[in-house]
Amino acid sequence: MPGHKVAVIGGDGIGPEVVAEALKVVGAAGVQLDTIEYDLGADRYLRTGEVLPGSVLDELRGADAILLGAVGPPVGSSEVPPGLLERGLLLELRFALDLYVNLRPFNGTPGSIAPEADFVVVRENTEGAYAGEGGLLRKGTPLEIATQGSVNTRHGVERCIRYAFELAESRPRRSLTLVHKTNVLTYAGGLWQRTFDEVAAEHSGVATAYNHVDAACIYFATDARRYDVVVTDNLFGDILTDLAGAVCGGIGLAASANLNPARTGPSLFEPVHGAAHDIAGTGRANPLAAIRSAGMMLDFLGEREAAGRIEKAVLAVAEHTASSGAVLATARIGDAVAERV
Ligand code: IPM
Ligand code: MN
Repeated sequence: MPGHKVAVIGGDGIGPEVVAEALKVVGAAGVQLDTIEYDLGADRYLRTGEVLPGSVLDELRGADAILLGAVGPPVGSSEVPPGLLERGLLLELRFALDLYVNLRPFNGTPGSIAPEADFVVVRENTEGAYAGEGGLLRKGTPLEIATQGSVNTRHGVERCIRYAFELAESRPRRSLTLVHKTNVLTYAGGLWQRTFDEVAAEHSGVATAYNHVDAACIYFATDARRYDVVVTDNLFGDILTDLAGAVCGGIGLAASANLNPARTGPSLFEPVHGAAHDIAGTGRANPLAAIRSAGMMLDFLGEREAAGRIEKAVLAVAEHTASSGAVLATARIGDAVAERV
């Protein structure tokens, strides 16, 4: 039986190292992948001037899934213009492949700020402030004007909220919290709230709540276990999920799935962390986020049982390292997960 066709973008910095551990664990879980490696990221840009050639994007469309490590230049690098890789590669893939849900699960580890936390953030992934609406007038003059909009379509908001309700329905606690800033962002917030209420009426089994995003920051830091599923817009979701990672034991554990739930093309799986050039090659990168992301990939590809084993093994190793204080090298962490699956 042929394996799932997975495009692998190791990317920059620690990206290739953590992806290698993720593939090791997938192999240990007994799932066969036909992987094709793609050389994309800061290195390729510096070598060739290319970010995401159209022919590569077309090839990626033919994959069953994409596994990505990290892309980005070293902090302070002046050779790659700011935002070029983020917009031209990562966001371009999210938009071009219509990866409208960014799913980010969080489980607190022992000793973290939120050891009992067990929740998932559903971040809208194709609209909001990330749509790039805006512009500059009279740039560089004292009368310069910068506008930066947020695009919220009924279609985009509704499909994300529907996904979140269906996810909440499938989980034991069946609870969903909308996070926004409806008291100030009245236009976009109004659309999100009205859509949420309408979809809620079709899902009477799901308990619903609403938090303003500033209040949600307090609860994430003080009482994160109250959350089951959280749904929010693109920018709030970006910020909240870094906070969630920090309170649940560190960004080294934060995994994500950029999903096209309609399955009109491949979905993309990546750790939330960046390229961390400062520790690249030192064996100090934590591969658990990449491994958990690969587990989410298998789940989405229908390999539910193997995905469940990987998820359990990742959480067990995270718990073990957190409570023992052990600092393991990248490959040893990968081995520890591989042994458990
Ligand atoms: C993330 C990252 C990206 C984002 C950046 C690299 C563009 O921070 O995946 O959370 O803002 O979405
Ligand atoms: Mn982010």
